[in-house]
Amino acid sequence: MGMKVLVVGSGGREHAIAQALVCSGGITLYAAMARRNPGIARLAEKVLIGRETDVKSVAAFAREQGIEAAVIGPEAPLEAGIVDILEDAGLLCLGPARAAARLETDKAFCREMMVRHGISGCPFHRTFHGAEEAADFIRDHPEDLVIKPIGLTGGKGVRIMGEHLDRDGAIAYVRKLGGKVVLEERLIGEEYTLQAFSDGSHLVPLPLVQDHKRAYEGDTGPNTGGMGSYSLPDHSLPFVTASEYEGALRIMHDVIGAMRREGHPFKGILYGQFMNTGEGPRVIEFNARFGDPEAMNVLPLLTTDMSEILCHIGEGQLSSRHVQCEHKATVCKYVVPEGYPDGPRAGERLELGNPGDALVYYANVEERGGSLYTLTSRTLAYVGVGDSLTAAEQTAEKAAGNVRGKVFHRKDIGTPALLAKRIAHMEELRHEA
Ligand code: AMP
Ligand code: GLY
Repeated sequence: MGMKVLVVGSGGREHAIAQALVCSGGITLYAAMARRNPGIARLAEKVLIGRETDVKSVAAFAREQGIEAAVIGPEAPLEAGIVDILEDAGLLCLGPARAAARLETDKAFCREMMVRHGISGCPFHRTFHGAEEAADFIRDHPEDLVIKPIGLTGGKGVRIMGEHLDRDGAIAYVRKLGGKVVLEERLIGEEYTLQAFSDGSHLVPLPLVQDHKRAYEGDTGPNTGGMGSYSLPDHSLPFVTASEYEGALRIMHDVIGAMRREGHPFKGILYGQFMNTGEGPRVIEFNARFGDPEAMNVLPLLTTDMSEILCHIGEGQLSSRHVQCEHKATVCKYVVPEGYPDGPRAGERLELGNPGDALVYYANVEERGGSLYTLTSRTLAYVGVGDSLTAAEQTAEKAAGNVRGKVFHRKDIGTPALLAKRIAHMEELRHEA
């Protein structure tokens, strides 16, 4: 029978988590999800369909089924205190308690914590609770600012002056938000993601990944949840130097230490979104969970068992021995409905075609009468794993290109041309600095 493990969440990230759990053997999988993800459902012994933030119902399901451990995919149930209630019910959880999840769910807390502990990489910022003070600050501040609502917005709340808004637009936006905002300096550089497992004391990093937020090729179009991502065989990225990487990793260690000292040890996946600037790494934000799509890059590379990682985290004895990844490249491409993100065409039938060697992760897709249909968000993801980036890219591209239906994907993710652009941009910024 093995250990009974629950995965919470219904997206591509959770399908990848479920797959990694099942691959580690000795696990019986259960799932709690807002809607039926056909990929996860196929792997699970039993599923609960219902709101993931209804943490009491999830806990009741866990008790009824005798579930022993849980991996929490999305942030909303963390904010609703799912780990607190599941730990009370005796489960071992991969995910932080509500108070530690504030790193993600309260952007003002996150910035203030970094300042309190003198953690480097924190951009210049101010926190506001009233619209008029925030408006005055914008009026008097000569440089462009980034406006961030303090709470969770599903990745859609950030506005950048000089990109999305002018000064008057920025003032109107903070008024619309009721003044509960963090205003911070606009950073210029290349973004990347550093994800790590932590048991509250120890931190073990996973390969670096770069996500692509913009909907269209060449990083144009509206922001999305992430259109795809890649990682390289050396687990680094060619536009990040060894010392820049060390700087980012140090920041992550410092955050784990700070949260422990504050009495809220962070246990789970710490996700650092960094801006590599000409002056080194700066923190865009922390998330309290795997990234979606970034989970789909790192989890297929794991050669050590997720079930064992869970146990070592439970014992507070996590070390790098327990988290080993293959030295391969990965490219993840999301297939999304035409019109996504602003006017997605839902209810369109898809024919997947032959995925070849690509891994397939279902996301926001409905299975009806043996066919798959789009919903309003990202539909499904293909991941190529290969000895080189080119090989991984071709595997993912071929699979995504074989899908028939009213959908699209970004053909440029993981291509040499895109990488060359990032490298040239960083060289220019370091030269200016
Ligand atoms: P978030 O919702 O915090 O992930 O922010 C969404 C996106 O806004 C990030 O991926 C960045 O591209 C951008 N962003 C956030 N903060 C900053 C900043 N201080 N400077 C420049 N861009 C930023
Ligand atoms: N890929 C960005 C996120 O998961 O928040």
